[in-house]
Amino acid sequence: MSPGPQAEKKSPGDTKGASSDTLSLNGVGLQYDDGPEVLADVSLTIPARSFYFLTGPSGAGKTSLLSLMYLAKRPTRGNVILFGENVTEAKRGRLAMLRRRLGVVFQDFRLLDHMTAFDNVALPLRVAGVAPNVVQRDVTELLKWVGLEDEMGKHPAALSGGQQQRVAIARAVVNRPKFILADEPTGNVDDVIALRLMLLFVEMHKIGSSVIIATHNHSLVERFAFPRLHLADGVVTQIPAGE
Ligand SMILES: Nc1ncnc2c1ncn2[C@@H]1O[C@H](COP(=O)(O)OP(=O)(O)O)[C@@H](O)[C@H]1O
Ligand SMILES: [Mg+2]
Repeated sequence: MSPGPQAEKKSPGDTKGASSDTLSLNGVGLQYDDGPEVLADVSLTIPARSFYFLTGPSGAGKTSLLSLMYLAKRPTRGNVILFGENVTEAKRGRLAMLRRRLGVVFQDFRLLDHMTAFDNVALPLRVAGVAPNVVQRDVTELLKWVGLEDEMGKHPAALSGGQQQRVAIARAVVNRPKFILADEPTGNVDDVIALRLMLLFVEMHKIGSSVIIATHNHSLVERFAFPRLHLADGVVTQIPAGE
């Protein structure tokens, strides 16, 4: 069960810098316009190679929290530290560079409409300068894994919501990012595919990524023994696996 030949690229000595492969929020608050704080005083550290579910009622701030982690939003107070670097006030260009080491699955997918499924998934590898034969091999294998081998040449408009979601997931993991942040990534697929997608995230975790999955799917949360970050009233509570 391999999500792609990328898994084999890691050399034995490739652990350098692992201690700084963390994501921390220190006293973070987030407010939209003049509204109440959606997040209030959130402090947490996501260590390297961890796996968390992010749970909480609709409107609790899960998407907002992921946006802070993905550096798409800046906190209105507190600091975000990524890879040992305080990025709270980092320049936009620097944020864009750092974001290349993050894989994100947006709730609304955000695929590029003018590109095929294959090219959407290939994009992070091409941006990183990966050789075309490797791109071909890895993207094909990953799209097969998510059950889209017959859809590779199609544009997003020709795909169902669940298929688009799987393209978005493949795109987020293809480059083996240090952090994979996924917002309700199994919201549009049936239980069998949801389980298969979860196994892909677990596989990415095994080969070194930290994974955070916002989900409403209680059966998935119960089935996989991973700890939870639970959001309610603007506050994150860490809940150990199995509770
Ligand atoms: N761009 C925005 N502008 C104003 N309010 C927002 C915006 N995005 C989210 N919110 C508000 O922030 C709160 C948390 O939203 P969100 O992070 O989407 O929660 P969740 O993902 O847990 O459903 C909600 O009250 C929502 O209405
Ligand atoms: Mg949300």
